Amino acid sequence: MAEVIVVDSAAAAGELVASHIVREVASLPAYTLGVATGSTPLPVYEALAAHARAGVDFSQVSAFALDEYVGLPAGHPESYRAVVDRHVAQPLGLDPRNVHVPDGSLAGIETAGQRYEDALSGHGGVDLQLLGIGATGHLGFNEPGSSFGSLTRVKTLTERTRIDNARFFASLDEVPIHCVTQGLGTILRARHLVLLAFGEGKADAVAAAVEGPLTASMPGSAIQLHAHVTVVLDPAAASGLEHREYYQWAQDHKPDWQGI
Ligand code: PGA
Repeated sequence: MAEVIVVDSAAAAGELVASHIVREVASLPAYTLGVATGSTPLPVYEALAAHARAGVDFSQVSAFALDEYVGLPAGHPESYRAVVDRHVAQPLGLDPRNVHVPDGSLAGIETAGQRYEDALSGHGGVDLQLLGIGATGHLGFNEPGSSFGSLTRVKTLTERTRIDNARFFASLDEVPIHCVTQGLGTILRARHLVLLAFGEGKADAVAAAVEGPLTASMPGSAIQLHAHVTVVLDPAAASGLEHREYYQWAQDHKPDWQGI
């Protein structure tokens, strides 16, 4: 079962997860962080950036992004390559050679998935994968119907996801229709999954992912297959959980040595 932690705010969630990552990096400087985009992980990146400014050294850390849009012009500010550079690589002082994002350029798109899988396995995989969850229940861009065994590949975004992401673009028409995303099978290979969600709009997807049936119709439910999952929520995102009292009880009695 996933460990579910409910905190007061997104900022508190960011600090909780960032502090854990800082401890991990202290014992393993060449740590590999799986990074997500969207609004959800930003409090984690802001808290990590504050640690970097306070002197924590992330220079040996590697980052692997979950996904990328297909066909955006190189350097587009909303390409996930640019977003990861802006929110993670630069503020944390990562070596650009250690920052990996799937290649969404049209030339060679047929092999983009396999190339990314090769890069991930050649590197030795991801230590901690940060995840948001879409209103559709997607993890990465694995929309409903994605196989639990899927690997990095080109996927078609749902209209719902395109509408949700249109806020980052001048118009809905500019939101790409295709993406390259790590598969659910890829994500499940990371050694620790940390799924964050904030706000009432995520409550149904969170409840279905954490407590609902295991089904490809709810890609988020794939987390139930992983041995080490931490779900960090604000009260609104936790509001649909049936076993919330038990999660709180478990937190109140958590052994000090356990960490997240
Ligand atoms: P959000 O997106 O963090 O911007 O809400 C999450 C997702 O689509 O996975």
